[in-house]
Amino acid sequence: MKIAILPGDGIGHEIVAEAVKVLNALNLPLEMNWADVGGTAYEKHGHPLPEATLELAKSSDAILFGAVGDWKYDVLERHLRPEQAILGLRKALGLYANFRPAICYKELVNASSLKPELIAGLDILLIRELTGDIYFGTPRGRRTAEDGHFPGTEEAFDTMRYSRPEIERIAHTAFQAAQKRGKRLTSVDKNNVLETSQLWKDVMVEVAQQYPDVALDHMLVDNAAMQLVKAPKKFDVVVTGNMFGDILSDEAAMLTGSIGMLPSASLNDRNQGLYEPSHGSAPDIAGKGIANPLATILSAAMMLRFSLNQPEAADRIEAAVQKVLEQGLRTADILSEGTTKVSTVEMGDAVVAAL
Ligand code: IPM
Ligand code: MN
Repeated sequence: MKIAILPGDGIGHEIVAEAVKVLNALNLPLEMNWADVGGTAYEKHGHPLPEATLELAKSSDAILFGAVGDWKYDVLERHLRPEQAILGLRKALGLYANFRPAICYKELVNASSLKPELIAGLDILLIRELTGDIYFGTPRGRRTAEDGHFPGTEEAFDTMRYSRPEIERIAHTAFQAAQKRGKRLTSVDKNNVLETSQLWKDVMVEVAQQYPDVALDHMLVDNAAMQLVKAPKKFDVVVTGNMFGDILSDEAAMLTGSIGMLPSASLNDRNQGLYEPSHGSAPDIAGKGIANPLATILSAAMMLRFSLNQPEAADRIEAAVQKVLEQGLRTADILSEGTTKVSTVEMGDAVVAAL
């Protein structure tokens, strides 16, 4: 089992090191290879996604990814910015299916800004289409406007596009995920305004015929944003496009009170996957040894389950994380009264001990 380890920038190195420690403790035949990505790669090789990193990723069964980005790279041209690394990996490997679970651990119910009764027991799965939509649609760019409100002035444009097969494959992913859970799927779009959303909805309805055991409903994205904070537990599986999914997944993550706890998986049709925490590179706390490594450790568990066919090992990691929470160990981001503050490294050690 070949894993590419791409720590990236900011806290990426610290949190990935803890996940690697946990993987090593499992005594599985894992071949791990490290490579630079993001701002770190730009500094060393002049590009956020060097050819060698891309080749390593392509030839691996799975990628464990930390985080990329730092405000100091905002001055670079877009194609050299750290974010292009993750976008480039998604595109080059065809990682169209992004799983972002939002689970509220009962030990952390008070860490959320929402009332405990609204989120206690919350367990939703957001599935985001990851290689289409306005993120990758062409044409895009800047030009002098020929029409519109201010012809003759500078304008910028992006293109929101979805093809039928792109929607069909993410629909199948979502229905199959719903079959394994509560059998309820909410498809989120903006069909009252957008053509892409109308096609999205039409295709969801068609694909639903093949999954009579799953109850499908549709929600407009603005309403979905509202329902997520009003009654989040009403959701089971949510499926949506790239742009709406980006926004709603941050909202869903924050319901749990702890973005530092949430893993994610991005898969292609060969089950090759990229696994990363749902949070970013947090340059403000990088190098201080206080970042929460649990989202990355839980991402490693998802990797074992989805790409490496090691469900027992994944269960062991998840149980170990549950145990350290029960022991009252907390990094600064999830600290509350009566719990014990630990560093990034101490948290990793505690998970290894709990295995
Ligand atoms: C995410 C991030 C990325 C995205 C950025 C870093 C390009 O916000 O994974 O949600 O917008 O997809
Ligand atoms: Mn995002």
